[in-house]
Amino acid sequence: MSRKILVPWAMPEIGKEVLKKAKVENIFIHGPKGELPSLDELIKAVKDADVFIPRGTQPVPRKVIIANPNLRGIANYGVGYDNIDVRAATEFGIPLTNTPGVLSETTADLAWALLMATARKVPQGHNYTLTGQWKGPGGKTFMGQDIGPGGSNKPKILGIIGLGRIGQAVMRRSRGFKMKVIAYDPPIEKIIQRMKGVQYRELHDLLKESDFVTLHCPLTKETHHLIGKKELDLMKPTAILINTSRGPVVDEKALASALKEGKIAGAGLDVFEREPKLSPGLSKLENVVLLPHIGSATLDTRGQMAVVAVKNAIAMLRGKRPKNIVNPEVYHSPDYLRRVKG
Ligand code: 8YV
Repeated sequence: MSRKILVPWAMPEIGKEVLKKAKVENIFIHGPKGELPSLDELIKAVKDADVFIPRGTQPVPRKVIIANPNLRGIANYGVGYDNIDVRAATEFGIPLTNTPGVLSETTADLAWALLMATARKVPQGHNYTLTGQWKGPGGKTFMGQDIGPGGSNKPKILGIIGLGRIGQAVMRRSRGFKMKVIAYDPPIEKIIQRMKGVQYRELHDLLKESDFVTLHCPLTKETHHLIGKKELDLMKPTAILINTSRGPVVDEKALASALKEGKIAGAGLDVFEREPKLSPGLSKLENVVLLPHIGSATLDTRGQMAVVAVKNAIAMLRGKRPKNIVNPEVYHSPDYLRRVKG
């Protein structure tokens, strides 16, 4: 019996090549412009697959997970997997994998692009120039925030929330700007305390001290609305918030109010609470830079993410242990054994 891998989105060619070489049967479904299938279409397609590769951030609720009693694995295309009901996957003995590592440098680049664009009002200045509003000296000056030490030679403070692979790649890039780096990440507090070039801070201290706060934590019960009104109130009026992690880590309504009232100077956001919708108020602000969740979006990195996801999928299809397992406890589950024996 031939086994099938379902790819319900427009996967980069390099990933498809790996699938082709493995000689497994594939099901590709997506719209002509890469549109994702509806939930009902996804459920229908999953019934016919042995493993499937959701596009990271494509919702995979319980309904999808229980659609096929013979499903052998889910290989998410993304490092974050909050789009997937992990608890249901584990309960039903289905291994889940992600794509850590390959996107860390690329996402750190984008965090810096957003930080610099927000601090120096790059899109605002671009729009002003492009639309012919620039009439020469005496016009709008787009005064921004220094990232490096500036004319007064005062190093700026970068507060990193979540010092995993991406957070550390962001930290490495700060060296050239001579910044002081502080970080908050409770599960690895002891490791951070031994690291060079970074000092550990509790969340509130980090928020009070930082000139830039950048978020690099996963979305979990603990990090949902980690940054709300109380936290924004602690930040400096000159501070900038950057979010390339997950939208719901920030209470967007509270953020829109803080930006409107000038409680913080600006925000650069690549992720939103209800993507692709923007919270009311956010789009009317002048001190925000908004991007459509493109942290990992380079040809090279998206290609490598596809390769990693496909390799994980093939391993699970063959009943082998994949490299990037997220829920290893499934290997003790009788339901998993039944699935791989079938
Ligand atoms: C998306 C991401 O997965 O890896 C993650 O966690 O957020 C992104 O890389 C990507 O947009 C694919 O949908």
